[in-house]
Amino acid sequence: MCLGFHTAHAASFDLSWVMRLFMSSTFFLYVPIKQIIEARMSLLQVSALSKYFGGLKAVDNCSFKVEEGSIVALIGPNGAGKTTVFNIITGLLKPTTGNVSFNGEVITGLRPHQITRRGISRTFQITRELMEMTVLENLIVQSQTKTIFDIFRNRFLDREHTRAMELLDFVGITHLANEQAKKLSYGQKKLMEFASVLMPEPRLVMLDEPAGGINPNLLESIIERIQELNRKGITFLIVEHNMEVVMNLSHYVIVMAHGQVLTQDTAEAVQCDPVVLDAYLGEA
Ligand SMILES: Nc1ncnc2c1ncn2[C@@H]1O[C@H](COP(=O)(O)OP(=O)(O)O)[C@@H](O)[C@H]1O
Ligand SMILES: [Mg+2]
Repeated sequence: MCLGFHTAHAASFDLSWVMRLFMSSTFFLYVPIKQIIEARMSLLQVSALSKYFGGLKAVDNCSFKVEEGSIVALIGPNGAGKTTVFNIITGLLKPTTGNVSFNGEVITGLRPHQITRRGISRTFQITRELMEMTVLENLIVQSQTKTIFDIFRNRFLDREHTRAMELLDFVGITHLANEQAKKLSYGQKKLMEFASVLMPEPRLVMLDEPAGGINPNLLESIIERIQELNRKGITFLIVEHNMEVVMNLSHYVIVMAHGQVLTQDTAEAVQCDPVVLDAYLGEA
C-alpha cells in the first residue's frame, strides 16, 4: 500500500510536473510570441536610444513605436532631442546606445541611403535644396537609382521624370519644374522638399517642422496632402510645434523633454497633461 501509495503519489507528482512544465513553457512561449507579434505590428521601433554630445545627453533612453498607417507627432520644447532622434533614425548620427528597427529589421548603423532604400524618407528643419539645380532635378536626385553625375548628364529614366512631374503636380508647382531652386520662395521650397521626400516611394515619411514659417493657405494644402497620402497607406512621423497642425493630423502624440519620452497619448490628452505643460512652461 505504501508502495502503491508511493507509486501513485510518484505518478501524480510526475504528472503535476509535466503539467507545470507544459504550462510554464506555454507561458514563456506566449511572452516572446506576443512580443514578436507586437514588434511586427510596429513599422518603426526606437529602443532605449541615447545620444551624448560630450557631457550633454541630447537623447536619453528614448523608446517609442510607430504603427504602420498612422500619423504620429513628435513634440516637445526646443532642445528636447527631436531632431537628434530623427538624425539617428535616418542614419545621419550613430546612437551612443540603443537601436532602431524598421519593418522588423535593425537599421542602426546603416548609412542614410541604405535606410532610404528600406523605405524611410525625411525632410529637414531647414530646407536643404540643391540651389543651382532646377526643381525637377532636385526631385530626380532624390530617387534611388540615379547618381548626381547622371543628373548632370541629363540621363533620366522616363519613369523617374514622370514620377517627379506627377509629384510636382500633386503639390501644385508643375509650373516651377524648370526653375532654379535658388529662385523659389520659402513656401515653394517647402513644397519642393515635400515632393522630393516622396520620390523614393517611402513607407515612412518623417517631416521636421513642415509648418515652420509657411502661410496658413499653404499649411492647409500640406495638411490635406499628408492626409491623402496617409489614406493611401503612407505612415508619417512629424515633428511640429504648431499644435493646431498636431491636433488636426496626428493619431497619437509622443512628447519628449530633456532627451526623454515624457508621455504618449492622443493630442487632446497630451494638451491637458500637467507633466507636458510643466515641460513646456519650464522652458519658457
Ligand atoms: N551636433 C551636436 N553637437 C552638440 N550638441 C548638439 C548637437 N545636435 C544637437 N545638440 C544638442 O542636443 C540637444 C537636443 O537638440 P535637438 O535634437 O536639435 O532638439 P530639438 O530638435 O528637440 O529642438 C540640444 O541641447 C542641442 O543643443
Ligand atoms: Mg529640431
